[in-house]
Amino acid sequence: MHERSRVAVLISGRGSNMAALIYASRADDCPYEIALVTGDNPEAPGFELAEAEGVPVRRMPAPAKDKSQYFNALQKVLEDHSIDLVALAGFMRILPGEFVARWEGRMVNIHPSLLPRHKGLKTHHACLAAGESVTGATVHLVTPDLDSGEILGQVEVAVLPNDTPETLADRVLIAEHQLYPRVVSQYLSRTRDFDWITNKVGELALALPKTHYQTSHGSPGWKVGTQSSSKFFAIMWNRHHGEETVGVLVKCSGQDEMAQLIEADPDIYFRPAYYGPSDWVGITLDRPRVDWDHVADRLAQSWELVAPRRLLEAGGR
Ligand code: GRF
Repeated sequence: MHERSRVAVLISGRGSNMAALIYASRADDCPYEIALVTGDNPEAPGFELAEAEGVPVRRMPAPAKDKSQYFNALQKVLEDHSIDLVALAGFMRILPGEFVARWEGRMVNIHPSLLPRHKGLKTHHACLAAGESVTGATVHLVTPDLDSGEILGQVEVAVLPNDTPETLADRVLIAEHQLYPRVVSQYLSRTRDFDWITNKVGELALALPKTHYQTSHGSPGWKVGTQSSSKFFAIMWNRHHGEETVGVLVKCSGQDEMAQLIEADPDIYFRPAYYGPSDWVGITLDRPRVDWDHVADRLAQSWELVAPRRLLEAGGR
């Protein structure tokens, strides 16, 4: 069983989408757990439900003024709970740009329309006023522009001839409850996907000077040097030899360093089976909380260990 991603749900009211996320997380194969429910309105009914379900709850009343203090406190709570992903679910506060930037790619929202149609509030009124026959719900990444981030998933809902904004909202809500957990699960699962991980490593590896891609015995790898004379400094590791791990192999200074790394961080470093006493150490990457800056540093060290001397003398990287 993989380590689950830790999701925080932010609510201001009823919390029915929060409930849907909680119940979906009970499935054995769900890639996330709800590690925290928080929000600005201490009276929000959703808190009571979350508490009854045994989910950690933090009521955080928002002061009328000093928005930044509130969001600094919220940031601290999210960090204290080691949150990987923030899921907004009817959270009615406008988020400061700095907070949004901190959670770039790690904060999602659900909106009751088929975005980009009907951003903002009163979406069902707007849909009926426009005489549309189909509406729906959207899960998207949160960016500084309201309801405008990358769309991760949508579901369509038919508009009935006698729909009022209320009847339509009720039906869209049923669709929301199915969409949100499904999209959150898919989004979080990408961090276990070999191709997604390989792309991330490739971006970092190719940012180093004089590097290129090449496979090594079928595994994606990256070399430094010219096409005619070059050396591998990173090779992907994809559940080889019946092991579970997806990761990357990088060069270290030798057996001593490898033993130290593995002893200090056995969840992160591994000794690649069947490599014998080599200087290739594995970094596990199919985990929710990969520190990609650290991976970039290790790739750079590996690059330095194998880069041709003239590259290093020329100032290297
Ligand atoms: C939902 O309609 C959601 O799409 C919107 O706010 C509403 C929250 O409802 N962002 P609930 O609190 O999840 O029941």
